[in-house]
Amino acid sequence: MHSDTASARTPAAPTTHAAPTWDPQQYLRHSGHRTRPFLDLLNRIPELPTRPARIADLGCGPGNVTALLAERWPEADVTGFDLSPEMLRRATDEYAGRTSRGGRLDFRHGDLASWLPEEPYDLIVSNAALQWVPSHPGSFAAWINGLRPGGTFAFQIPANFSAPSHALLARLCETPRWRGRLAGHGARYIHILEPAEYQARLIELGCAVDIWDTTYHQLLTGTDPVLDWVKGTALRPVLTALGDDRGAVEAFLAEYRDLLREAYPPGPCGTVFPFRRIFAVARKEL
Ligand SMILES: C[S@@+](CC[C@H](N)C(=O)[O-])C[C@H]1O[C@@H](n2cnc3c(N)ncnc32)[C@H](O)[C@@H]1O
Repeated sequence: MHSDTASARTPAAPTTHAAPTWDPQQYLRHSGHRTRPFLDLLNRIPELPTRPARIADLGCGPGNVTALLAERWPEADVTGFDLSPEMLRRATDEYAGRTSRGGRLDFRHGDLASWLPEEPYDLIVSNAALQWVPSHPGSFAAWINGLRPGGTFAFQIPANFSAPSHALLARLCETPRWRGRLAGHGARYIHILEPAEYQARLIELGCAVDIWDTTYHQLLTGTDPVLDWVKGTALRPVLTALGDDRGAVEAFLAEYRDLLREAYPPGPCGTVFPFRRIFAVARKEL
């Protein structure tokens, strides 16, 4: 059993936490490394059953990967759904509108915990978002049901929650100094399954399934680059919970930064930050 499977069994944190606020600018600081897995996923998505295609991007974030869908299928009607007003604003400002070949790109508010396809889709895709939605495997049946025959459900999900970056964050949140304000915030997104479990579930739902995982040995540069990376993602719940309390934010970041410096010492060319991700491409039978 992979160690991430054990962490996937960690009891879910209380669901009373507010949704984290997102900072598109911070998130996009590492857009090169963050986009690469989406390109690897996109590469494996087969041709879609109808033209122009109807496409949903679940948890679209700042819209840059949604725009790559519109580049590959320029006649398609592509909608990105997300919960974060900050991300939706950025995506709409940058990318919404008609595409070069008469398609359309738009962005809408949607909570993946309850999102259902309201019309037939040729492709439902989600990149680096389902880890925030503990119930996601329970939605697969409805999402695949909403695909046209021959349509595809494809996702990429980070699977590095036992890595030092995330384990140290979870541990720090539970220390006596922080647990009163942050209990559960460092580990609240750990609900992913292992590739074999996703595979079995998607096959049961009548799909031809391609599943794999990859560890990217990302070389980050600059000072405290792993801290800078997690400020865009895993730290969002902590930063949201500490809110405007600048003193607490700075104290927490200083403690966490010291732990990360030890876990990820810089090398001669930068700091290696290995990152495992799971990919799935499930094609509904014709
Ligand atoms: C790490 S970002 C990924 C963004 C984009 N897919 C990408 O690949 O760059 C995760 C996104 O999931 C969104 N998200 C988290 N929980 C969500 C939910 N329950 N419903 C909709 N979106 C959600 C966040 O707002 C955020 O924009």
